[in-house]
Amino acid sequence: MSAHSGPILMMGFRRHGGSSVVDAGQPILEVRDLVVRYGSQTAVDGLSFSIQRGEIFGLLGPNGAGKTTTLSVIEGLRKPDSGSVSVDGAKFAHASLAVRAKLGVQLQASSFQSELTIEQLTRLYAGLYGLDLPRRALRERLADVGLGQEADKPFKKLSGGQQQRFSLMVATIHDPPILLLDEPTSGLDPQSRRQLWDRIEGSRGKGGSILLTTHSMEEAQAVCDRVAIIDHGRLQALGAPRELVAMHRDDPRVLAVARGDVTLEDVFIGLTGSAIRD
Ligand SMILES: Nc1ncnc2c1ncn2[C@@H]1O[C@H](COP(=O)(O)OP(=O)(O)O)[C@@H](O)[C@H]1O
Ligand SMILES: [Mg+2]
Repeated sequence: MSAHSGPILMMGFRRHGGSSVVDAGQPILEVRDLVVRYGSQTAVDGLSFSIQRGEIFGLLGPNGAGKTTTLSVIEGLRKPDSGSVSVDGAKFAHASLAVRAKLGVQLQASSFQSELTIEQLTRLYAGLYGLDLPRRALRERLADVGLGQEADKPFKKLSGGQQQRFSLMVATIHDPPILLLDEPTSGLDPQSRRQLWDRIEGSRGKGGSILLTTHSMEEAQAVCDRVAIIDHGRLQALGAPRELVAMHRDDPRVLAVARGDVTLEDVFIGLTGSAIRD
């Protein structure tokens, strides 16, 4: 673990008091028979999976597989054509703001194109979630992610890694029990990528759950407890990375692409095909 690992997601996942006894065993997120169409094209085609409390779950698939569309339904940004999403046992169609507040959504860097300093942005986003953090608490949040010295800088003056840490901190400022990350490490340099993995790893056991999308098999193997491989909006395989390799290592489609020992990447390419997707 790097010296800087941990705090961001740990702070994002302080245990919520009270509700865990009643909810024990109930998934924090359940997606059931989800169908999403764009005109005549079916982007998500009967997708089901659920995420347990404390689980780090990877949604894997090639470009165009339906990952972002699935997340946008979970985030409440898009209405599915059919199927349902439940967060903490509450169906999203009936979702109150209280249900929405259980989601942490990592905002894209472009959402922060403003002249505000990152301390001001932190206050703004805390306020949107109804948190009234005193200045000292705001500064602590920034210091937790190694941005204590940068509080007076505008977002755009931060480095890529700093921007990523900041947007993740803001996404978890209200301590959501589930955090959604859409390709969180794309565009990061190897150091920043490792640092983010350390943070995700560091959140394990703190009670919070993470749903992340990626097409990096290395990333999936490094941090995910379970992964769902999807393609054409349909589930192709679901399980722990190691289980998936064990389960599919003799599949002729997987053997055909393996170069030596079968890896998760071989399973991924074997099941989703080797044609390049744009
Ligand atoms: N707003 C949209 N309008 C029309 N088609 C879309 C839209 N968003 C995504 N799609 C299509 O839906 C499919 C799934 O896209 P997406 O969910 O973005 O996949 P992924 O995130 O796995 O790359 C793709 O074929 C994509 O072209
Ligand atoms: Mg996407």
